[in-house]
Amino acid sequence: MVGDGRMTHGERNVNWPALLRSWDVQQESFNPTREKRFELMLDVLGASLPARFTALDLGSGPGSLSARLLRRFPAARVVAIDYDPVTQRIGRGALGTFGGRLTWVDAKLGGRGWTDRLPPGKFDAALSTTALHWLTDPNLARMYRDLARRLRRGAVFLNGDHMPWGDDDRGLSRVAGRVYELRHGRAVSRSEWNTWKKWWDEVEKIPALRPYFAERKRRAAHHPRHGDPALSVHVTALRHAGFRDVGVLWQVFSNRVLYARR
Ligand SMILES: C[S@@+](CC[C@H](N)C(=O)[O-])C[C@H]1O[C@@H](n2cnc3c(N)ncnc32)[C@H](O)[C@@H]1O
Repeated sequence: MVGDGRMTHGERNVNWPALLRSWDVQQESFNPTREKRFELMLDVLGASLPARFTALDLGSGPGSLSARLLRRFPAARVVAIDYDPVTQRIGRGALGTFGGRLTWVDAKLGGRGWTDRLPPGKFDAALSTTALHWLTDPNLARMYRDLARRLRRGAVFLNGDHMPWGDDDRGLSRVAGRVYELRHGRAVSRSEWNTWKKWWDEVEKIPALRPYFAERKRRAAHHPRHGDPALSVHVTALRHAGFRDVGVLWQVFSNRVLYARR
């Protein structure tokens, strides 16, 4: 996009909805329960909130969760937050503002002052899928503290992600790892990595995305490594930040939906 927000000629020729669909296919290949997990998270929102609410999508990528939420709840609004210029560009291209109900925010979760970039006011829900595992333990704790201040009392928090067992539960981790290997074979994580890499390599060939890739690389240089916080780290940090009723609502091994109420 040029400075005034208009699309360049190259950008107008990109099939953004097809890119979003290819993102979904690639993500689903890592996590065959992905749609079921989205559905369950939205069921929880439906059971907890009135029809009109505003939710945050933390680490939205190109907006897979945001789109599903906005389709399911026609009076809802979403603020989608991510700091990857490439996936956000794809999301903006594929979904736009969803009829004025979707706002895109470029911010780094857990970074200082990230909530200052959000629209003003308090939110009714904060959801995240397959994203918070990128945060280190201290950044996750800071993110939850900041988030708590921007959620109204009674707001719903849901995180659908891989949340491993911690050091106190090594036995569970081992048995889950063995079952996983028996069911899928040792080669699976290598093939997951290949699918992910192949998607990024293909998308990087699109000329209109070049400036976004350049910015992505510039930002990656300042990004801390993958954190992979344990479930117990999430639970403790949420409680310290003032959340209550913190617990796992659904899980298949370490693939879980963690719930909390502000
Ligand atoms: C695997 S994608 C998941 C995207 C989407 N939630 C989904 O389920 O398809 C992880 C996303 O988290 C974002 N992310 C990771 N760490 C982040 C941070 N500290 N701040 C903002 N976004 C972050 C990445 O840029 C990426 O778009």
